[in-house]
Amino acid sequence: MKSIKKIGVFTSGGDSPGMNAAIRAVVRSSFYYGIEVSGIYRGYEGMIEGDICDEMDVRSVNQILQRGGTMLKSARSKEFMTKEGRAKAYEQIKKCGIDALVAIGGNGTFTGAKIFSEEYGIPIVGLPGTIDNDLHGTDFTIGFDTANNTVIESVDRIRNTAQSHNRLFFVEVMGRDSGYIAAYTGLASGAMKILIPERESSLDGLIERLEKGRKNNKSSSIVIVSEGNKWGDASDIAKQLKEKVDYYDSKVTILGHVQRGGIPSCFDRVLASRLGVAAVEGLLNGKSDVMIGITKNDISYTTFADAIKIKDVVDNEILRVADILSI
Ligand code: F6P
Repeated sequence: MKSIKKIGVFTSGGDSPGMNAAIRAVVRSSFYYGIEVSGIYRGYEGMIEGDICDEMDVRSVNQILQRGGTMLKSARSKEFMTKEGRAKAYEQIKKCGIDALVAIGGNGTFTGAKIFSEEYGIPIVGLPGTIDNDLHGTDFTIGFDTANNTVIESVDRIRNTAQSHNRLFFVEVMGRDSGYIAAYTGLASGAMKILIPERESSLDGLIERLEKGRKNNKSSSIVIVSEGNKWGDASDIAKQLKEKVDYYDSKVTILGHVQRGGIPSCFDRVLASRLGVAAVEGLLNGKSDVMIGITKNDISYTTFADAIKIKDVVDNEILRVADILSI
């Protein structure tokens, strides 16, 4: 076992539901193994500025398991991308006696963690905290399940109006360059079409699908559009459709940041708790420069370099099933 006396934990990038559960798990499992924990506020930005709390004891994480957002706050830091910024950050953590880090976040967070651990030799493990589910080396990221549940609840509501008014709704969901949220929520909400960056699609293909639906007496439809869709966002697509065929009564709903908030689901709390404990145990076992994930229900370790490669293929089986069922 490695001799680690104090771990610094921080959240960085977009918040995601379940980050608090991960912080709690890191703090409590550290206590279990006799290690101190300092919370670093506002991610790398706070690290550079020395916005670090002395010690988080087991009671400091009371009542956060069930809360969305992150008690440590989050930020996207431009300064940390510079050598000077990272030097300042290293000085601050050294001053606090921190000898290892747990970074909870996504692509940007791990890009920073990789450079930082290479430059300063400090052990760092990462936990996948993002609603986008766009990291290699874990089946699911913390927050993805809760975000999906928020989306489908919203689509269920939109469907009431779509059905009552015989309308076509384009619902835009988050995901940055990844179509995971769109694919899962499209299947779970019975969308007629799912438009994602990873799969070829076109206006003509969409019209063909809509016409097929009309012939099958479909009076209302939902199209889920991932924000990263290559040939347009939900508003663009609705406009393009209107220019070509004018008889669809279409509306656009952009769900936006509502998807990032809310009470974490049971799935995300369990995932975050398991990963938080695995992070501390991983550091004690000499792991560094890796993201800790869960693959086929087992803890897995993936180098930061591999983890940040965007998952290029959205689960094809999800899309195949959605296509079969969206008649
Ligand atoms: O990475 C999470 C995410 O919510 C993406 O889905 C989205 O593209 C982005 O963050 C939005 O970032 P911000 O909150 O900084 O506008």
